[in-house]
Amino acid sequence: MFYDPRTEPHGLAHNPWLSLVMPRPIGWISTLSPDGVANLAPYSYFNAVSGFPPFVMFSSAGRKDSQTNVEATGEFVANMAGADLKDAMNQSAATVGPEVDEFELTGLEKAPCRNVSVPRVAAAPVALECVLNQVVPMVARDGTKARSEIIIGEVVGIHIADSVIVDGMLDIKRIRPLGRLGYMDYVIVEDVIQMMRPGT
Ligand SMILES: Cc1cc2nc3c(=O)[nH]c(=O)nc-3n(C[C@H](O)[C@H](O)[C@H](O)COP(=O)(O)O)c2cc1C
Repeated sequence: MFYDPRTEPHGLAHNPWLSLVMPRPIGWISTLSPDGVANLAPYSYFNAVSGFPPFVMFSSAGRKDSQTNVEATGEFVANMAGADLKDAMNQSAATVGPEVDEFELTGLEKAPCRNVSVPRVAAAPVALECVLNQVVPMVARDGTKARSEIIIGEVVGIHIADSVIVDGMLDIKRIRPLGRLGYMDYVIVEDVIQMMRPGT
């Protein structure tokens, strides 16, 4: 099948869009409001986009609390959710007001960061401390403005739980990272294969 998303309906029973680029990592974004209320929410339009200096991005469909807080304070943390944290991750996606601290809502413990004032998820195997680099709007050629904007952060601090480091490498079987598929589906990464690049 083929469809032009600008002009044609996909014709399927369910919108396939989120299944077309998958699995997507989940950036579990923690922020602080200017009043000091912590916020936590998952974003699967999320990725690492540069190695050095390291940058990550997430994209918010509408100006949600996370984006509002990042724009106000210039800081966020991208926490990683392992399979053990799947229910808390899902619960933190609840649509609640900015006065609600999702750490308290989910019962998750906070841990301090070093180079940003935002708290991180203590139980997360990995947490990336970020400072806002830029917010990028997306405008189609015909002038249609996307609801989403890309929030790009420079990574200024990296936490890795000692418990997931084995022989100097992150052990995927100890992390069991959660990925987002389409629809209401997720994947737990447990199966690892290795391939050498041609010529190596
Ligand atoms: C796994 C998962 C991934 C999500 N990814 C996104 C995303 O990439 N962009 C977005 O705007 N909302 C996404 N959402 C929805 C937000 O998490 C939800 O709207 C949340 O309430 C936003 O919280 P905030 O207002 O505190 O930022 C996702 C939800 C889940 C469960």
